[in-house]
Amino acid sequence: MSLTQERITLALAPRPVQFYESVGSTNDAARDWLHNDAPHGAVVIADEQTAGRGRMGRTWHTPPGVALALSVILKIPPQHAAQVNMVGTLAVASTLLALKIDDIAIKWANDVLVGGKKISGILPEAVWQGDQLLGVVLGVGVNVRNDFAGTPLAATATTIEAVTERPQDRAALVAVLLLQLDRWLEGMGSAHLLHAYKGAMPMLGEPITVQGGAGTIQGVAQDVRADGALLIQQAGGETVPVLAGDVTVVEQGA
Ligand code: BTN
Repeated sequence: MSLTQERITLALAPRPVQFYESVGSTNDAARDWLHNDAPHGAVVIADEQTAGRGRMGRTWHTPPGVALALSVILKIPPQHAAQVNMVGTLAVASTLLALKIDDIAIKWANDVLVGGKKISGILPEAVWQGDQLLGVVLGVGVNVRNDFAGTPLAATATTIEAVTERPQDRAALVAVLLLQLDRWLEGMGSAHLLHAYKGAMPMLGEPITVQGGAGTIQGVAQDVRADGALLIQQAGGETVPVLAGDVTVVEQGA
């Protein structure tokens, strides 16, 4: 079923929503709205993005008709900004659980996997005016019926329709996702949120490699700090915190 202004407005009422058939990036549209007094919880959603962004400067493709691409405006205190990754990934994971999908995992910092393949990515962006945090734009991309055949993503990505083997209504999915998001937002700042995030992360305790701004770090994924940093125990016993990077779990015996 197609995403339209009417269906989205009805599914998300009374939440303030901007719907685009096509937009550059919903995160950019949400950032503009935040500079123009958007309320907390307002959502920008698009059927297609022509300049979607992923983490670490990557491109995020959102062709028309196949995915969820949305950005939620969060007006939260600065001390909670580091937990937006946790709230976003847990909201996606809970939405997938509600669809009775098995084998859901969060991969630090902000990917959601099903059966080891990526189904969703989160891109939180803080928006500042001088030294004042206007809010955080929580970008969420979810693969619903993308066709990855013949692309490099075929081996590493999956979609909701591929794992449920039935058609999905994207307006209904967004409604559930936002309900779950509201639920996890209530736990911001609590130990419960961090506990749930870590509990959904099977890579903890596993040998990993992280590639990020600080180069490549190898060790065992030991823990996640309240500020979202991944703690890696290196071979010499030293524990180092990493704030951003791409994790690869090292296969045992490899
Ligand atoms: C990643 O896994 O690298 C994060 C991907 C985030 C994609 C979403 S789609 C909606 C929002 N708008 C964007 O330009 N990016 C995010």
